Amino acid sequence: MSMDTRVPPPGPAARAVAASGSVIREALALTARPEIISFAGGLPASELLDVDGIRAAYDRVLGTSPYRVLQYSTTEGDPALREAIGARLTRRGLHSRPEDLVITTGAQQALALLTTTLLDPGDVVAVEDPTYLAALQCFHYAGARVVPVPTDDQGIVIDALADIVVRERPRLLYLVPTFQNPTGHTLPAERRHAVARLAAEHGFWIAEDDPYGELRFHGEPMPWIATYEEASDRTVLLGSLSKVLAPGMRLGWLRAPAEVCRSSVLAKQALDLHSSTVDQAAAAQYLLEHDLDTRLLPVRAVYRERCATLLATLPHVLPPGSTWSRPEGGMFIWARLPDGHDTAALLRDAVDHGVAYVPGAPFFSGPADPATLRLSFATHEPEEIRRGMARLAGVFRPDRRPAHRE
Ligand SMILES: Cc1ncc(COP(=O)(O)O)c(C=O)c1O
Repeated sequence: MSMDTRVPPPGPAARAVAASGSVIREALALTARPEIISFAGGLPASELLDVDGIRAAYDRVLGTSPYRVLQYSTTEGDPALREAIGARLTRRGLHSRPEDLVITTGAQQALALLTTTLLDPGDVVAVEDPTYLAALQCFHYAGARVVPVPTDDQGIVIDALADIVVRERPRLLYLVPTFQNPTGHTLPAERRHAVARLAAEHGFWIAEDDPYGELRFHGEPMPWIATYEEASDRTVLLGSLSKVLAPGMRLGWLRAPAEVCRSSVLAKQALDLHSSTVDQAAAAQYLLEHDLDTRLLPVRAVYRERCATLLATLPHVLPPGSTWSRPEGGMFIWARLPDGHDTAALLRDAVDHGVAYVPGAPFFSGPADPATLRLSFATHEPEEIRRGMARLAGVFRPDRRPAHRE
């Protein structure tokens, strides 16, 4: 057969064609150059990872039970890890047995499993506007219809949500109630309770995504929505070891009512059979040997200082009339410049000045606000934060541009 008579293979599926690349990933690629001080990433600070402790945990499990931890294992996850995570959730006010949990390959996979098990194409998912970009991608791949719910500086607006659940009949509400990505906002307890009541009244699922809750450096912990009686049978809580242990281990979990656990396990069998046995065993060993709260104390202190440092620069960096969030934990500050600014257009100028951030527009599923941006304070030391923000002032406040570049 000659080359020109070959019938081409079919093109990719429609959902793959329609998926747009991650603007964040593209921005990160642009900002990977070492001379750029990047506030764009969502990574925990590398120097805070407990390399020695994690290495010791791997050594221990490979030394004591190599044939178990290098073998295939069960889809639900390592029993000791489920036990340790269940005990931690219980201590924090949400009674959880190992069988209430499925260990996943990061919270991201928990989100994918949840989407597979709860949503058919065309189903409505209500989300905070703006919200976590990779959740939007996940819902897109499921063929779901995403309905944005307005937020204010405390998170989702309950009156707006109440209207939307009547009008749109969502099957699922996806929320990041604590130190939200991208805004850093935390939903107050009364609103959490109101969300739980609406779910009971109108019959929808809640996905409560909480990868940042352990990184609180101000204020008091909030109850999970899953703890409210009204929502206890319809809330799936997603958690992660990425921000408290190491993101490269790719370990997360979902805590859900029995039927969702069961169908998530079946869906996970089709995806990856199970998360890495050796990584789960090492994580379980680590949690057995270390008190996570003690270990997180210095981490929280470092993030507190970095957040305060960045916040202190903002009045001198952002144009007059800008507003920004003041997070009590997590990694992100969300800012809005006055009308007429376009942070996506300004990013190139920022990179030319040796600094980067994430433009806010891609996080919106409703009309995008081009004047917004996300800044991560987690990865740089205070001095570096000040230098980076001085560069950003040169972009956002040309009136204050120094005569000489540093
Ligand atoms: C809101 C939110 N959910 C889920 C994830 C995924 O976390 P993991 O590393 O556990 O997959 C992230 C990661 O940044 C996130 O910000």
